[in-house]
Amino acid sequence: MAETLDSLLAESRDKLKAAGIEAAALDARHLVSGLLGLSRAALVTRGGEPVGEADAARIRAAIERRAAHEPVHRILGEREFFGLNLKLSKDTLEPRPDSETLVDCLIPHVRRIAARKGSCRIIDLGTGTGAICLALLNAVLDARGLGTDISDNALQTARENARRNGLAERFETLRSNWFEAVEGRFDVIVSNPPYIRSSVIAELDPEVKYHDPVAALDGGDEGLDAYRAIALHASRHLETDGLLGLEIGFDQKQAVTALFEAQGFRLLSGVKDLGGNDRVLVFEQDVERSKDR
Ligand SMILES: C[S@@+](CC[C@H](N)C(=O)[O-])C[C@H]1O[C@@H](n2cnc3c(N)ncnc32)[C@H](O)[C@@H]1O
Repeated sequence: MAETLDSLLAESRDKLKAAGIEAAALDARHLVSGLLGLSRAALVTRGGEPVGEADAARIRAAIERRAAHEPVHRILGEREFFGLNLKLSKDTLEPRPDSETLVDCLIPHVRRIAARKGSCRIIDLGTGTGAICLALLNAVLDARGLGTDISDNALQTARENARRNGLAERFETLRSNWFEAVEGRFDVIVSNPPYIRSSVIAELDPEVKYHDPVAALDGGDEGLDAYRAIALHASRHLETDGLLGLEIGFDQKQAVTALFEAQGFRLLSGVKDLGGNDRVLVFEQDVERSKDR
């Protein structure tokens, strides 16, 4: 007898449960709907329909990978971020919902600058999939963005994501070690840099430590290496009335604020993520202090 969607879903869920995957039923539905190109509603309404041999084999192979703790979106090769469909690749972090907090918080600033100046120039340091910059460009039509990264593979993926989402005309990329190869000034500097302490990486969930690239996670001994490098040169690349927005680790607000204050910045706002943790810091240049320097 031919297998049905229902029977394959049940088999997938049971296999994931047996492998200790917490959200077994949800992950099974997500993988099956993603692989077959069906909506979640269709999984329910078409549950009695037969599944061909080739599709069943693809689903079983994907479930094997998930049972070995590969994340759902790595297996599907793409994920949604702030309404954009983004391709993932070996050197790109899987964009996290926490980073949507950073986008949310910067959109009004980007809109305001674009309305005042006719355009808003954004640089996204360590752009990965391009998630943050592309989401800002998608929200504000008069904005233009430069995504930088140390990885060519990430930059290639970011460019493809810009094309996929109709944003390629306003998005460029540059390979650079933080500001090293960057020229000129920007209205908005944004970054979600690697900020996990090196010693903690080995304790992360297998989904993260084996599947997100280590260059996207490891922030050095104190988790602050990238912030130090960015803080050192940020004022040279920011328009006087520009803004700098950063994602931070839940316990880094004080340390990161001190690093940027030491370089002539003033904390404009600190924003918590949906879990109530400090997650985003927005700085402006401290004009009074800059005059004194
Ligand atoms: C935490 S990930 C963030 C990716 C993406 N912006 C996002 O939010 O999903 C950090 C990114 O910084 C990049 N990166 C690491 N070291 C870098 C360096 N020295 N210069 C520039 N980018 C770097 C990594 O390749 C990675 O893409």
